[in-house]
Amino acid sequence: MPEADIEGNRYFADQVQQAPGFFLKGSHQLDWGMKNRLARVFDPRSGRTVMLAVDHGYFQGPTTGLERVDVNILPLVPYADALMCTRGILRSTVPSSSATPVVLRASGGPSILKELSHEEIAIDIDDALRLNVCALAVQVFIGGEFETQTVHNMTRLVDLGLRYGMPVMAVTAVGKEMARDARYLRMACRICAELGAQFVKTYYVAEGFETVTASCPVPIVMAGGKKLPELDALTMAYRAMQEGAAGVDMGRNIFQSDSPISMIQAVSKVVHESMKPTEAYDLYKTS
Ligand code: R5P
Repeated sequence: MPEADIEGNRYFADQVQQAPGFFLKGSHQLDWGMKNRLARVFDPRSGRTVMLAVDHGYFQGPTTGLERVDVNILPLVPYADALMCTRGILRSTVPSSSATPVVLRASGGPSILKELSHEEIAIDIDDALRLNVCALAVQVFIGGEFETQTVHNMTRLVDLGLRYGMPVMAVTAVGKEMARDARYLRMACRICAELGAQFVKTYYVAEGFETVTASCPVPIVMAGGKKLPELDALTMAYRAMQEGAAGVDMGRNIFQSDSPISMIQAVSKVVHESMKPTEAYDLYKTS
């Protein structure tokens, strides 16, 4: 008898991973300060987050929609649960009176003109603490030319983060030559979690995303990716939430929308209230 395909069953995607005493999976045994920072990025009421990613300039300069962060982005910041940005934008443009927690870009080096995986750690932990941020974001290129270097960037930041109570978000970067499928993302996310990342940002895939979230022992936030029509982006976010994501970290699908404030509000409804995408899209159109 041919062997049945039982791969899907082994992930137990319908069984929630327990985290006694805390609302985020994999985080319940962390120290108080780290949990407190995580509880600022993720809303303890829903256990989810809507992060607004505006860090694109660290490798590609003034991306469409980010030409003037002061004009285009600052009005959106109060609607986000967390702002993902570089220290340059934070110090130069974001008012220090802002109440929105910050997830700080902590790796960098090459521009889009060079090999992107050749990143290094691009900040001292002292500066992250000085800036009072709630997490660090580091790119990890599994399968990339400088894979080991980027994994080491992450583990170094995790060590520093554990010393000071600073969570690290690993961002799984998928090289152009790599298949962006569940099999690859399962491997990339799991490697990041096994080596200590407190949460992971990765892409949505239509087939098998629930196995990516189920096999990653820490929360996953969905990356937005290239601009899609608004209903498609809301549908992708909805599916990711239903399939085990703990939020989104979206950039272009929000700030390149014709109505970015309406879009981030609609995304927030999908993420925190599990609003159906069509309903959220109606809200987007009317608000
Ligand atoms: C990716 O490499 C960067 O960190 C981006 O800044 C960001 O995460 C991308 O956001 P989006 O794909 O939603 O525009």
